[in-house]
Parts: sequence; C-alpha cells; structure tokens
Amino acid sequence: MKYWDRKEKLFKYINGVRQFFPLANEQLEIIARLIDKFNPNINSFLDLGCGDGFLGHFIHKLYPASQGVFVDISEEMIKKAQIKDMGHNSEYIVQDFGKHEWFKSISKLKKFDLIISGYSIHHIENNEKQRLYKDIFELLNPNGLFLNLEHVSSPTRILEETFNELFLDNMYDYQKYIGEEKTKEEIKEIYHDPKHKALNKLELVEEQCKWLKKIGFSNVDCYMKIFELALFGGTKTR
Ligand SMILES: C[S@@+](CC[C@H](N)C(=O)[O-])C[C@H]1O[C@@H](n2cnc3c(N)ncnc32)[C@H](O)[C@@H]1O
Repeated sequence: MKYWDRKEKLFKYINGVRQFFPLANEQLEIIARLIDKFNPNINSFLDLGCGDGFLGHFIHKLYPASQGVFVDISEEMIKKAQIKDMGHNSEYIVQDFGKHEWFKSISKLKKFDLIISGYSIHHIENNEKQRLYKDIFELLNPNGLFLNLEHVSSPTRILEETFNELFLDNMYDYQKYIGEEKTKEEIKEIYHDPKHKALNKLELVEEQCKWLKKIGFSNVDCYMKIFELALFGGTKTR
C-alpha cells in the first residue's frame, strides 16, 4: 500500500509525550516518505534507543511483516516496548550502544534495511557517536537507510533560547489540555532540571552530517529541522 493510502490511518497514531513535540506528526510523515522513496521493501529494522518503542511500532504499522529489533540501555524501557508489541515477534535487547560490545551482539543477528533512532544518540559523547555511526553503516543492508530523529545543538545562544521557549510553551499547553494545572514557572523548573540537561551531549546537525558522509553514507541531509529537533541520516548506497 502506498504512503498516501495509509496516511490518514497512520497519523492518528501519535500519542502521549509526543503530542507536545513541535511538528511531531510531520516528522512521522517525512520518515514514512523517506522509507517509501529509498527502501520501500523493509524486511528488517532496528530501533536504537527505542524507549517504549514508539518509532519501531510506527514502522510496524507501515510494514507489518517486517522483523524488528529493539535496543535500549534500560531494562525497564525494553519491557515497556515489549508490552506495546502487537504480536510481531520482535527481538528486544538490553544493550548500551555507547560501547562497541553492542555491535558484536547485534551483528550476530542480521543486517537491516532500516536503522532508526529517536532522541537517543545525543546521550553519548561525540567520539562514541562517530563510532556508532560506523557500526550503523556496517549493520545496514545494501540500499539500507539510517534515520536519526534527534536533539541537536543550536548554533547560537539566541536560537537555543527560542527553541527552549517554543518547547516550554508546547509543554504548558499540553499539560493544560490533559487537565493538569502546573504554572509556567513549574514547567520551566522541570524542563531546566540540571540532572536532565547533564545527560545531553548535543552536536550541530551539520557536523553530524559531515561524519556520516565521511563514513560513506549517501543522500546525507538534514531532511527536516525545527530549531533543536532534527531528522537527518543517509543511505548505504545509491
Ligand atoms: C528520550 S528516549 C526516546 C525513546 C524513543 N526512541 C522515542 O523516540 O520515543 C531516549 C532513550 O534512549 C535510551 N538510551 C540512552 N542512552 C542509551 C545508550 N547508551 N544505549 C542504548 N539506549 C540508550 C534511553 O534509555 C531512553 O529509552
């Protein structure tokens, strides 16, 4: 079934925390389009840093017969992803992709037509990101596609502030919508929690695209971006 026929059905899918992400529906739309264009026969995919499996389960909606592998460092998140699996017989693996050992365990399994990651790789250092991107290249089948929906850094302080304000406003509107009554100040405090910020090792999307090109990816681009939220990646050949 082509993308257009599935569109309406698919985009009712968005739920939970994603609802306060700016352009969350459009991100899924672009992901679906890119897959359609580059590799419409997805038999196998890997969701890296899967959390509750949001992106992997979305891929299963697009390609119900595909074999999914879900990886996360957190056992708790892997369990959540597993609970939401709709009988696809996927594999769920606890691994830290910040360490090269992850590659050994995954490369034993299979290669992938699609490797997708959502808001996860920015938790590791830049040298680890570069090594991970090489691992990803190795793990892709010919014509395989890598898509990284990611939190990237802002080029200037004022742009960072603009992003923070947009995100906070969205969080505030969303919590009101679901019936909570936190003030803007309370929301700000949660958002700027230094413990959370310390986990972010952000890098510019342009820099990360340069790394991908150097590794050998083709069609490398930032496919869409709204301030610090970027969708970028590349293909193994073509
Ligand atoms: C913000 S959540 C995003 C979850 C999901 N990908 C999504 O798009 O909704 C980030 C996830 O990355 C996982 N993660 C962080 N560092 C990781 C690492 N080094 N190896 C594997 N998973 C990691 C976390 O446990 C968490 O589940």
